[in-house]
Amino acid sequence: MGVQQGPAPACQPIRIESHLDGSSDRSLAEDVLDGLTRPFKELPPKHFYDSRGADLFDQICELPEYYQTRTERTILEERADELAELTAANELVELGSGTAAKTRVLLDALQAAGTLERYVPVDVTESMVRGCAEALVEEYPGLTVHGVIGDFERHLAHVPVAQGPRIVAFLGGTIGNFPPGSRRRFLREIGRLLGPEDHLLLGADLVKDPRVLQAAYDDSRGVTAEFNRNVLRVVNRELQAEFDPEDFEHVALFDEHHEWIEMRLRARRELTARVSALDMCVHFDAGEELRTEISAKFTRERLQGDLAAAGMELTHWLTDPDELFVLSVSRPAA
Ligand SMILES: C[S@@+](CC[C@H](N)C(=O)[O-])C[C@H]1O[C@@H](n2cnc3c(N)ncnc32)[C@H](O)[C@@H]1O
Repeated sequence: MGVQQGPAPACQPIRIESHLDGSSDRSLAEDVLDGLTRPFKELPPKHFYDSRGADLFDQICELPEYYQTRTERTILEERADELAELTAANELVELGSGTAAKTRVLLDALQAAGTLERYVPVDVTESMVRGCAEALVEEYPGLTVHGVIGDFERHLAHVPVAQGPRIVAFLGGTIGNFPPGSRRRFLREIGRLLGPEDHLLLGADLVKDPRVLQAAYDDSRGVTAEFNRNVLRVVNRELQAEFDPEDFEHVALFDEHHEWIEMRLRARRELTARVSALDMCVHFDAGEELRTEISAKFTRERLQGDLAAAGMELTHWLTDPDELFVLSVSRPAA
């Protein structure tokens, strides 16, 4: 770990810090060792996102079944001016920033309001942070970008100190990837980035007809299936493992009790794969499943309760006419 590209002179628009030491510091080895030796195998979703995984996620966002991205974008387009006025933010910190595609809607509104000064993308994928920093300083003259390459579960302390009123954005419904207990703990950590006048903008997917949810995670073109199997390609490359991704079938199911989607990989046959970097073999029975993601769906009560438990007060609930998705606005509770 360490700062790989040090402080730039004040006139430089881009500063990037990396807190990852290659993929090993994404804790892939620990997660494989821990997750693939459990009675119910599991890997955390952050390992989907090498550059191929990021490309596949971009393709998912364009799928007709994947309503989340376009709905969140529409809400942003309709409410961005209001958000700019409400927050008067000088800076936007974005967790899991990706390509910052939707973020530009908010940056446009903050620029039009005359308050925009700095953008702080935080993402585990280095190419994303570097690529969007370079693009955004071109697109927004006068903007400075302080990129943080790191794991938002471990490196939030490296987010720079606020230079004025700030929005922390966590878009795309990624908050749903946390199970309830760690979700509240994570929200509490995000709360530490906020001063009394700052705001959290949190995108969350809402509870709805399970058939709509199921289709969003199991599209007819099989892009989500390929995205899901990509985690095995990452493990193969980074840890010299020998999984054949085609030995695994993509499974997406809605857990009605928890109101979350689970993505799993189901072994089509009994198999044993060697993971050379860990000097271990992983055995799957035929039909055995590996859980690769949960994606929790929210009601207003659930999100409000989570925010309150993390010391935040929900102030605005911005949703679409069909109530598919919400952009919630909250601030530190008085
Ligand atoms: C589902 S995408 C969302 C991208 C974008 N925010 C959006 O709304 O379309 C998740 C993003 O978060 C990043 N990510 C996932 N887990 C992460 C982690 N633990 N720490 C930092 N970034 C992470 C991924 O690299 C990816 O860019």
